[in-house]
Amino acid sequence: MELSTRSQKIDSLCTLIFENSGEAILVTDSNGKIVQANPSCLSLFEYTLDEIVGQEVEKLIPTELDQIHKAHRKNFINSPENRKMHSGLSLTGIKKSEEKLCLEIGLSYVKSENEFFIICFISNVSNREKWLSKIRYQQKLLKTYLSVTHSIFLILGSDERIIMLNKVGSTILGVSEKEAIGKNWFDQFLPVDEKNSIRDFFKKMINGEVEDTNTHENHIINSEGEKRLIEWNNTVIRYKNGVIEAILSNGVDITEKRILEDAKKEALIIGQEMERRRLAQELHDGLGQAISAIGLNMNALEPEIENFNLRFKTIYADIKARLDTAYEEIKAISKNLTPKILEDFGLEKALEYLGETIDQSTNVELHLSLHGDLKNLESKISLTIYRIVQELISNALRHAHPKNINIYVTRGKDNILLIVEDDGKGFDPKKPTTGLGISNLKSRIELFKGKLNIDSTAKGGTSISINIPL
Ligand SMILES: Nc1ncnc2c1ncn2[C@@H]1O[C@H](COP(=O)(O)OP(=O)(O)OP(=O)(O)O)[C@@H](O)[C@H]1O
Ligand SMILES: [Mg+2]
Repeated sequence: MELSTRSQKIDSLCTLIFENSGEAILVTDSNGKIVQANPSCLSLFEYTLDEIVGQEVEKLIPTELDQIHKAHRKNFINSPENRKMHSGLSLTGIKKSEEKLCLEIGLSYVKSENEFFIICFISNVSNREKWLSKIRYQQKLLKTYLSVTHSIFLILGSDERIIMLNKVGSTILGVSEKEAIGKNWFDQFLPVDEKNSIRDFFKKMINGEVEDTNTHENHIINSEGEKRLIEWNNTVIRYKNGVIEAILSNGVDITEKRILEDAKKEALIIGQEMERRRLAQELHDGLGQAISAIGLNMNALEPEIENFNLRFKTIYADIKARLDTAYEEIKAISKNLTPKILEDFGLEKALEYLGETIDQSTNVELHLSLHGDLKNLESKISLTIYRIVQELISNALRHAHPKNINIYVTRGKDNILLIVEDDGKGFDPKKPTTGLGISNLKSRIELFKGKLNIDSTAKGGTSISINIPL
């Protein structure tokens, strides 16, 4: 191809690029006079070509920046180079309508013996700037919120390391935010006996296998080795393409609240036991003694009985028998209220005695199966187990009308397992109830950090298992 034809082709290619570029292009001469502007540039500043050709480039800049710009322009002509104007900063331009623009400008030049042209490549970044300032504002708000909230905010990456921890979190953990970042959360801040199960759950969340909709509790260990109980809510953070990137956890320190709740529960149970003792004493000493006195008076009548007629004798015998039964019943109720047998002979004997009484007084067959050493249990635990068995037997008898009740109590190495089963009518444990028995029982179990499981259906049969760590 001939040189002149080739250069013609390149010329027309350049014109094509100039005319169709989405980026605004402006050309000035060495005096800062506008020589050429492409259509994108004209539409950006809202001028026609005729309106700006021959004008100083400062026409496109706010008046207050005129002088500074002229100085920069001179400097550029003295030592021209291809570069971005004030790299990193956004510059201000002005439209014909006087609306201001945020611009990013690249500079270039063409120099020949007697001519010098400056070429400006102009990008309008007004929208980007607006968004950036919105984002900066939101970030500031978020930072303020995170510093004034009473909750811990923690972000863990999929590698288990801390990405973010707010001020509350670092205060509770006793480490600065800087120290915490990058540390493995599980190895550094969780107690050995809890970390594996929590780690497993974390992995499942990261792998997208479980959605976490519940509140969780677990302990953390702060820099002084102190355990704190935290209630957490977790949310996954996803990349734009949906892949899970991190877990955001929001935690509240409930250590003191839980101590208070436990103390309340314990006080309630102690109160109940005291009330039972008082009732038992009153029954025994009041009503029991009164019946006993009536019995003695009746005994005093005994030598005279021969002198009375048959009807009188029958009524006398009936009253005496009923009086004996009433006295026995009061004794039994009183014993149940304060299981003295439990204090004197331990859980095993107390449960056996309870079983025998039920066997004798009902048509229900009660099977008791006891394993392990139940004699040397802490009195608090044996009383708890005894009360639970009492309530569950009473529930089965009152509500289920079963033929059989099975009770298994097994003392393991570090736990005690209790199962009470009946073959009665069953029930829906989720159904609201006005009864107090099961909720009292739950409070007792929670005090010992135990677990309760009710397996029952309206089709029949109930099995309730309770596991209490020792
Ligand atoms: N073994 C069971 N078989 C069938 N239904 C049961 C059984 N245990 C409990 N229920 C049902 O659950 C309800 C709640 O039991 P809970 O012990 O809390 O209260 P309650 O026995 O009704 O009253 P309270 O124990 O306060 O005297 C009962 O009313 C009963 O409907
Ligand atoms: Mg009950």
